[in-house]
This record gives sequence, structure tokens and C-alpha cells, in this order.
Amino acid sequence: MKTRITEMFGIEHPIIQGGMHYVGFAELAAAVSNAGGLGIITGLTQGTPEKLANEIARCKDMTDKPFGVNLTFLPTVNAPDYPGLVRTIIEGGVKIVETAGNNPAQVLPFFKDAGVKVIHKCTSVRHSLKAQSIGCDAVSVDGFECGGHPGEDDIPNMILLPRAADELEIPFVASGGMADGRSLVASLAMGADGMNMGTRFIATQEAPVHENVKKAIVAASELDTRLVMRPLRNTERVMTNDAVEELLRIEKEKGADLKFEDIIEQVAGVYPRIMMEGDMDAGAWSCGMVAGLINDIPTCKELIDSIMAEAEEIITKRLTGFQNA
Ligand SMILES: Cc1cc2nc3c(=O)[nH]c(=O)nc-3n(C[C@H](O)[C@H](O)[C@H](O)COP(=O)(O)O)c2cc1C
Repeated sequence: MKTRITEMFGIEHPIIQGGMHYVGFAELAAAVSNAGGLGIITGLTQGTPEKLANEIARCKDMTDKPFGVNLTFLPTVNAPDYPGLVRTIIEGGVKIVETAGNNPAQVLPFFKDAGVKVIHKCTSVRHSLKAQSIGCDAVSVDGFECGGHPGEDDIPNMILLPRAADELEIPFVASGGMADGRSLVASLAMGADGMNMGTRFIATQEAPVHENVKKAIVAASELDTRLVMRPLRNTERVMTNDAVEELLRIEKEKGADLKFEDIIEQVAGVYPRIMMEGDMDAGAWSCGMVAGLINDIPTCKELIDSIMAEAEEIITKRLTGFQNA
């Protein structure tokens, strides 16, 4: 399939694997890229420029296809070495960066000068337009359904995507709630040039996370996610578990007085324990409502091939069937 996104990134299929903390390692990024999509290494999971350089090198050993690096800008006290990470990405020869979390204006000139394409992930039309105005090449529009940080507007993709299509000139991919060929065709119908998936790619053979995480996604229904940290205006959609229910209890108890320190036990530093050790009640981990559509753990190639085959079937049979009826 050829879209503005496949052309821009030099990929075969318009499917991107969004950056994911403690999931987006070289193994997954390479597997997605080898399957014709765009795999993305999560920069902040590596943390330091040295470790990121090593991860980029490992990915290059596993694929000769294009892959990207995610750079998430967090409101943190101990900011990571962003200038060093930017330099590492450029020196590592990576040509695609997914930015997220905050306006990437400060890093954009460095990437532009180095010929790196930037796709910015955002959760609203106004942030998408801002990204376009500062010179981002594309945006990833994350609806309310998404795993991770859906923002504070709560607009689902059935509204957000056509709104984005009406306003944007640069290409965008639909993100949040995407799982299969139906998702892809719907995204294209609503004006996107492809789709971005997070949760779906965790439940794949190559995702280098503990089996318990994959099993939890397969076992979950669309009712099993919760929104946490809303009182802090840092809303995150996570899979429910004992720690998350405790977190919600604390949020209710503290009300408007809630501080990050009150829930630090449930959110800080829990990813390695969950993703690496499979301790599923260790804390809050991002997961999309799309878990309700995920029932298997295929290889990335099986997943992407089945998405493209289903999309083709829908376009050429189901949709054209209506036309000829
Ligand atoms: C476990 C997990 C970790 C994530 N970590 C990040 C991250 O570090 N940076 C980022 O920009 N997005 C992160 N995301 C968001 C994804 O890149 C993607 O936008 C989102 O998962 C799309 O929604 P979906 O899960 O419904 O496909 C994460 C998502 C998940 C599920």
C-alpha cells in the first residue's frame, strides 16, 4: 500500500509501532521494520546517550530497513540529557524520530539540519496544528482510547481523526485503539495516511517483555483499563490491577489535594518490574482499551501481514460490494 506516510518514511506498509517505555527495545523495533512497518526504539528507556547509541547499533545489526527513535519530553525534575540523546540519534544515522509529551520546537532545528524526519505524537487538533506550524513532517494523532497519555480533552478517534483531517496539511497517522485491518481501513477513511499501534505490538512474539504482560493483554477486555493521574493533569490510561485500584482509592481520598508523592509507590520506577520481571501488580502500566480486541500473540510479520490482507479484503470486497449492490 502506498500513502504519504509510506513514501515519507520509505516503508512498505503504513503501520508504525509507537515508542513504549521498557517495550520499545531493538528486538521489537527491528521485527516491526523487517515486517515492512516502522519500528521505533524508546529513547528514554535507554536513558543515556551511550546506552541509546548501543541500542541503535543493535537495531542496525538486526535490520537494514528504516527504523526510528522515540524522544518523549517529560515534566521531570532530573531531566535526561536531551541534547546528548539528540546528538546520538543524528550520529547514529537514524532518519526518523517520533517526538511526544511536549512541543519539540527546541530539538527540531537539529533534526531538520541532519535530514531527520520528525513525526510528533499529540492528542488534540490544536497541538497537531502547532506541530505543523513549527515544521514537523507528520503527526501521530492519539485518541482518547489510547494506551499511555491521552491528554485531557477526552475526544475519541471517531471525532478526532476527521477533525484532524479537516485542518491538517501534513500527513498524519491514527493512533489509539488500532489493532487490525478494520482499524487501518477506518483510519484511511477518516483521512489518516496510516496507523500507529502500541498495545497491539506488546502482544507479539518479538516484544522483549515478560510473558505475563502479553498474557494479561490477551486476557483483558475493553473494560479493563483505568484513567489515573487526572487530578495531576497527567492522565494515563493503564491496565487495572491491585496497585491501580489502590492508586484510584488514594486519588479519591485526597481529591484536589493530591500530589505526585502520594502515588509515587504505584507509578515511579515500576516498569522494569512489570515488563522485565512480570510482576503484574507492581504498579500502573500503560495499556489501551484495544486490549479487548487482542486475542493472540503472533509474530510481527504475521500481525502486519494479516492486517494488510484484511484491509485489502475490506477495501476490494466489502466496500466495493456495497458500491455495486
Ligand atoms: C506500555 C506502553 C508504554 C508507552 N510508553 C510511551 C512512551 O514512553 N512514549 C510515548 O511517546 N508513548 C508511549 N506509549 C504510547 C504509544 O506509543 C502509543 O501512542 C499508544 O499505545 C497508542 O495507543 P494503543 O495502545 O491503543 O495502540 C506507551 C504505550 C504503552 C501501551
